[in-house]
Amino acid sequence: MNRDRSAPFVITIDGPAGSGKSTTAREVARRLGWHHLDSGALYRALTLAVRRMGIPEIEWHALTDDIFLQPEISIAPAGTRLEVLLDGSDPGPGLRDAETTRLASILAKNPRARARLTGVQRSALDFGSVVADGRDMGSVIFPDADLKVFLTASLEERARRRLLQDGRAVDGRSVRREAERIRHRDRTDATREVAPLRSPPGALEIDTTEVSFHAQVRRIVGAATEAAGTLTGQAPEK
Ligand code: CDP
Repeated sequence: MNRDRSAPFVITIDGPAGSGKSTTAREVARRLGWHHLDSGALYRALTLAVRRMGIPEIEWHALTDDIFLQPEISIAPAGTRLEVLLDGSDPGPGLRDAETTRLASILAKNPRARARLTGVQRSALDFGSVVADGRDMGSVIFPDADLKVFLTASLEERARRRLLQDGRAVDGRSVRREAERIRHRDRTDATREVAPLRSPPGALEIDTTEVSFHAQVRRIVGAATEAAGTLTGQAPEK
């Protein structure tokens, strides 16, 4: 818990692929007037940079600091978003393509890649209070967060949402195929040695399979307001 009244507030939202972390975190941040940190976008930006260097995938697990320090990766406020910049610019559509998505969870197993991004993630607090989403926000990056949330949803529902989000067809076959991809990524994220995906102790766990988006956002904003009020005796500052 944040003891220092002048310190920024932190909400962490962790969860598996397609659980709705990013959209939820974005909306919670918008409602509170805080910044949203999408830590997955940082892993994707580093992945894109390594892809551009042309290093074969088989070598990724052993890549060292000098490789990860070559690209300049930073965040900058843009409204309530913290925009991710790769060598000073928007990384472009490659950030979200299927190959970057697949390779990001391979890169994320490398402890040096994770260490490379730790400082960038914590620098979000330089801009004020933050809603951070990812896999290890509450466990590793912001262990003293004021509120920790862990989102889950059934595998099928997560596959369906991911297809809808990407504007792809949502039929039985596509859902099964996407569910298989997500299952594979979940396994990689949950079984890696460093910062494996899991619900941090004390987290508010919400299964969003049958909860509406607005209801889940309301619940988190309510819990955040309560936590901030308990700490400061007043509503959270914007
Ligand atoms: O949006 P989605 O859940 O599909 O993925 P993302 O949040 O953009 O993250 C892409 C990948 O980066 C994940 O599959 C994780 O392997 C990795 N990641 C991580 O290890 N730790 C984080 N804090 C965020 C992402």
